[in-house]
Amino acid sequence: MASTSRFIEACWGRPHDRVPVWFMRQAGRYQEGYRNLRERYSFLEMAHNPEICTEVSCRPVEELGVDAAILFSDIMIPLGPMGVDFDIREHYGPVIAHPIREAGDLARLHMLQPEDDLPEVFLTVEQICRRLGSVPVIGFAGAPFTLASYLIEGGPSRTYQNTKRLMWEQPSVWQGLLDMLAEATVRHLTAQVRHGAQAIQVFDSWVGALSVEDYRQFVLPVMKGVFNRLNALGVPTIYFGTATGSLLPLMRQAGPTVLGVDWRTPMSEARSRVGTQVALQGNLDPVTLAGSWPAVEDHSTHILREMSGDPAFVFNLGHGVPPEAKPDNLKRLVEWVHQFPGPA
Ligand code: CP3
Repeated sequence: MASTSRFIEACWGRPHDRVPVWFMRQAGRYQEGYRNLRERYSFLEMAHNPEICTEVSCRPVEELGVDAAILFSDIMIPLGPMGVDFDIREHYGPVIAHPIREAGDLARLHMLQPEDDLPEVFLTVEQICRRLGSVPVIGFAGAPFTLASYLIEGGPSRTYQNTKRLMWEQPSVWQGLLDMLAEATVRHLTAQVRHGAQAIQVFDSWVGALSVEDYRQFVLPVMKGVFNRLNALGVPTIYFGTATGSLLPLMRQAGPTVLGVDWRTPMSEARSRVGTQVALQGNLDPVTLAGSWPAVEDHSTHILREMSGDPAFVFNLGHGVPPEAKPDNLKRLVEWVHQFPGPA
């Protein structure tokens, strides 16, 4: 497909030739070229360098033949210019110097002005588009809940106890923080589209920590506002989280074009929970990629059979490519998925 991409067509639920495929975290430490760059630069140095980001974003398309590129950046990047002092530790994740715990901490944050604050990110989007031609570029940002969870916990968490307690015990601080993060997320994604992104993904990786009732009360209204504004941009919007099986119907109500599904929920089950008015993306268990090919083939074939004939399906993993993934598995997997026809 030259001008219309099978990835974009599948997002809109329109006919396309083959099942489209890309991978969350398709750029990363599983690649030898990436590891070589990381010997010379820290992750954050890389993330602010447009030449390196362009190179790293384009390589998976050129090496694996995936149907879309995703901007190389991180959900934490917009928080720097908003006044958050953080670092990203290898094999751990983001670490925040002064976590947010009360109203006074919120007052320290200021609103993102995307093009003034992060010109390198938008230059990167433009450069990727120019280099890849007809292959679409996916822009992304963190969702308010997931960003808030890092800001409140101060780093990764298993229980999200500080986040939940702030949400329950200081609802006005919670609302203020989520509104501010929602505004920043919309501004950041709008600017990415302005500079050429043809689809956008909102990563709410940790929202699955919430109960259905807490999601409905404390997150859904904000996400409805976010997707309402993002959908006006005219590009497909993707909403992804992990461990969200029971939240999927409410996440659909938030209004994205595409819902991401992790490996815990069968794709057919996800489809029956959300109906046919939304596209689905997922959901191979990323751990298969670290092992031998037969497990990758078995698990991916199961997904492809479940979704066979579904006009609105994008093949992906249930979460990001792990550093232990074998590059050859990813390459074979792209070829394998592309053997399956899309719906006429
Ligand atoms: O998908 C892609 O190829 C685009 C790049 C991308 C990165 N981070 C690069 C990255 C994307 C889309 C993200 C989003 C992101 N960042 C999320 C949401 C997606 C998800 O995985 O749930 C989250 C939760 C983060 C926060 C974050 N940043 C984590 C948990 C880590 C991993 C820490 C580690 O060492 O494993 C990072 C760092 C990070 N972001 C790396 C990459 C390639 C590894 C950095 C390195 O080279 O050491």
